[in-house]
Amino acid sequence: MTLTTPSLQRMREELQISEEFLGRYNRPGPRYTSYPTAPVWNDAFGPDDLESVHAEAQRAQTSISLYMHLPFCESLCLFCACNVIIQKDKRVAIPYLDVLKREIEQVARGVSRDRPVVQFHWGGGTPTYLTPQQLEDLFGFAREHFNFSPDAEIGIEIDPRVTTREHLETLRRLGFNRLSMGIQDFHPEVQAAINRIQPFELTRDLLLAARDLQFDSVNVDLIYGLPYQSPERFSHTVDQILELQPDRIALFSYAHVPWLKKQQGAFATHLPEGMQKFEIFRSGLMKFIEAGYLYIGMDHFAKPGDELAVSQQQRTLHRNFQGYTTKAGADLYGMGVTAISAFQNAYAQNHRDLPSWQKAVQDRGIATMRGYRLSDEDRLRRAVINRLLCHTVIVKDEISREFGVDFDQYFAAELGQLDGPREDGLVMLDDKEVRATWLGRIFIRNLAMIFDPYLEKQHLNAIPLFSKTL
Ligand SMILES: C[S@@+](CC[C@H](N)C(=O)[O-])C[C@H]1O[C@@H](n2cnc3c(N)ncnc32)[C@H](O)[C@@H]1O
Ligand code: SF4
Repeated sequence: MTLTTPSLQRMREELQISEEFLGRYNRPGPRYTSYPTAPVWNDAFGPDDLESVHAEAQRAQTSISLYMHLPFCESLCLFCACNVIIQKDKRVAIPYLDVLKREIEQVARGVSRDRPVVQFHWGGGTPTYLTPQQLEDLFGFAREHFNFSPDAEIGIEIDPRVTTREHLETLRRLGFNRLSMGIQDFHPEVQAAINRIQPFELTRDLLLAARDLQFDSVNVDLIYGLPYQSPERFSHTVDQILELQPDRIALFSYAHVPWLKKQQGAFATHLPEGMQKFEIFRSGLMKFIEAGYLYIGMDHFAKPGDELAVSQQQRTLHRNFQGYTTKAGADLYGMGVTAISAFQNAYAQNHRDLPSWQKAVQDRGIATMRGYRLSDEDRLRRAVINRLLCHTVIVKDEISREFGVDFDQYFAAELGQLDGPREDGLVMLDDKEVRATWLGRIFIRNLAMIFDPYLEKQHLNAIPLFSKTL
């Protein structure tokens, strides 16, 4: 079974939505990098629980995905919702790296050498805040403690404003084969408003250097919905991106969460909202598709030969905390302040403030602050939600067989709730499958939310938990 792509004309027609329609669907909702989502996890889950989860993974001999969080940035981009620490004085990295190594040692103790690391990702913050020597030292340390598969996917997030050719040369020599570059928007007024001045030429030169050094894949991050953006202005940014021809594009919806990130309030009155935000997205989406990129879903585009695109066609695509991935079945071991780990049956998150993380690692090697053990029902619902987000279709028989349930009976209430979205053209229902339409793929979070029973309780919260779905 393959995904069918409608004609451009058909897409354009499906994307002609009304303000009333948008008002109904554009509401707060999770991005489902995990199910159950992080607000469901609890602090009764601690380091002992994580160690027993590590032992289970060791017995199951799963393959390994490693994530390292490097939180530092030199200056704050005002839109940023990531877990960052702004520090101009780079000496702060020295004690951080010492503690991180201690954590790596402890985690590696529970992992035998015959379990291959198939994926290694460095995120942040800005990992290239570190000097090339620091990158090399940390990478060497990790290599000594784990067994990397020869074809491991090794990726890093870089900010072109602080990344030099020397950084790239070092990374490539170490074996990094993927880069993800923050761009967001090239318009000078937008860049000034978000406190991120990043000229096109600087970004282009770094991308050319990456290509010269033969990184296998380069991704760029863009955001729609930033202050002072308009469809015309963003269209120009998209043209500039098309000149650069990245392998993948992440076109994120700006997550406005000022209750978590106060600095976002600075430009709150200049944000494009509602139909205007949708127009910005639509213009970007159509341009990327017309230029030959495939829409993977949930903000991601890839060139047709790219692994993500192939994996989606073959229905082997998965989703984890880094977004979409082709590495199914690997357990994710997260290290560093705030880092998240994700196992077949559990999630865990490290302490979010630096002193608590440091102290916990120094005291006992790992720094779990909270987490969650999945129930059988959670696993069933996670499979349903992941299928929708990755393959855009739920084949009822597959779920019934895998989990020993009758899909139609088990999800009778949810199928009933899908009637509205079906009438609105978001989903097609028959006795074999639940399939998102082209429009439904854009509002896929809304469809997934129907299968998430925790949301009802969370909606009772006075403080919103999630950004809006568009
Ligand atoms: C860790 S940063 C990328 C690396 C590097 N720090 C940089 O900015 O170039 C990850 C990405 O998250 C996205 N991001 C951050 N805050 C966001 C927000 N409020 N809404 C949507 N996307 C956001 C940005 O596209 C950013 O490039
Ligand atoms: S967008 Fe990147 S560089 Fe800017 S503050 Fe966030 S993590 Fe740091």
